[in-house]
Amino acid sequence: MRIDIITVLPELLESPFAHSILKRAKEKKLLEIFVHPLRQWAINEYGQIDDYQFGGGAGMVMMCEPLANAIEFFRKERKYDEIIYMTPDAELLNQSMANALSLKENLLIISGHYKGIDERIRRHFITKEISIGDYVLSGGELPAAVLADAIGRLLPGVLNDETSALFDSFQDNLLAPPVYTRPAEFRGWKVPDILLSGDPAKIADWRYEESVKKTAERRPGLLND
Ligand code: ADE
Repeated sequence: MRIDIITVLPELLESPFAHSILKRAKEKKLLEIFVHPLRQWAINEYGQIDDYQFGGGAGMVMMCEPLANAIEFFRKERKYDEIIYMTPDAELLNQSMANALSLKENLLIISGHYKGIDERIRRHFITKEISIGDYVLSGGELPAAVLADAIGRLLPGVLNDETSALFDSFQDNLLAPPVYTRPAEFRGWKVPDILLSGDPAKIADWRYEESVKKTAERRPGLLND
């Protein structure tokens, strides 16, 4: 899979892909991530990519021309399955969306800034809009990194058995069960006996029950989905 990210602040995206699982995915050539500074497509020598909003109001808006030129440049290079805009006023990212996106070949992600991007770009170029949660961040870079991470770790071969995504929270609309490691007793706090029983079927049942219990307590809405 290839992910291209267009951003005003490429520096913010240097670290997230340089470590751990996404680094391994890149080394194994399972995932390529390219970060492109939008200022390459600025409208003048001052590097302008934003302007005041029509109708008045605080905050700058990212202009059509740099974004349209950037998107058209990349669209000429290859066919994108989705052109994604990260924005809080969109559908919420969830595991099934990440699963679906992990099956794609090429994704182009636009990180917004300031008040957001001109609505005409959203209407005419963007094919999918994603929010990572009901809160507002100062830009779309961290959301783009979150999305790339959620997708990248699902690509076949990226995770090994020990870190398999199959047992993650949300894979079955259930939160993950509790986990324990050695020692079996710490300050008098014991690991549940069943996990030490060596009986895989009983352990699987226990984990499932714990997942259902936790989901009912913390996120009952997931059980109805
Ligand atoms: N940009 C700013 N806040 C965001 C959010 N919650 N999700 C996606 N993009 C954003």
